[in-house]
Amino acid sequence: MQPKTRHLALGAVIGVLAFILIALVVVIWVAYSGAYNVSATQGHLPFVRWTLETTMKNSISDRAESVQAPSLSESMVTAGATPYKSMCAHCHGGPGEEQSEWASGMLPEPPHLPDVISEWKPSEVFWLAKHGMRMSGMPAFGPTHSDDEIWNITAFVMQLPGMTEETYASFDTESSGEHGH
Ligand code: HEC
Repeated sequence: MQPKTRHLALGAVIGVLAFILIALVVVIWVAYSGAYNVSATQGHLPFVRWTLETTMKNSISDRAESVQAPSLSESMVTAGATPYKSMCAHCHGGPGEEQSEWASGMLPEPPHLPDVISEWKPSEVFWLAKHGMRMSGMPAFGPTHSDDEIWNITAFVMQLPGMTEETYASFDTESSGEHGH
């Protein structure tokens, strides 16, 4: 290597190290100073929101690719209704049912599932319900529920977009598998 090229290479290495050092100092400063507002009453900055949402969508679709979805039967839909109503509806609502008042104070606010679920595949809903989503308030049901139970809920959730209020209301909240904890 010529002395000049060596100088350039050394300069580049020092530049990169300085950049990493400054980035570290900024991260540590943000963490310790309390300057970042974590409240749920103020939304994320647009670029933070874009990063989080895009990361979330791609992370879930990527991981759900290895999930083998069973064919979702009518009996699974029925079996999934009660657990959906007792474990998901206070955050996500249902046909003719609003989310609980407290859930509207969450950030991100849990979406009304009948409106958004057509954007998701069954394997993705299953993956999401099983593993949850860190730092969002979406719980993981995998540690407490079997895959079969989560597939039942998934089968029910996939029916939500076309479901009438009457059909939704006709599913019993008391009977079948899930007992309130
Ligand atoms: C404590 C509230 C809460 C409960 C209970 C809950 N979720 Fe969620 N859920 C969330 C939040 C918050 C998000 C993230 C919304 C976001 O980031 O846009 C979410 C996201 C989702 C999404 C992705 C929707 C989208 O387009 O953003 C699905 C599907 C979902 N939940 C299904 C379920 C199912 C099924 C259950 C019940 C087994 C459930 N959730 C229970 C809060 C909850």
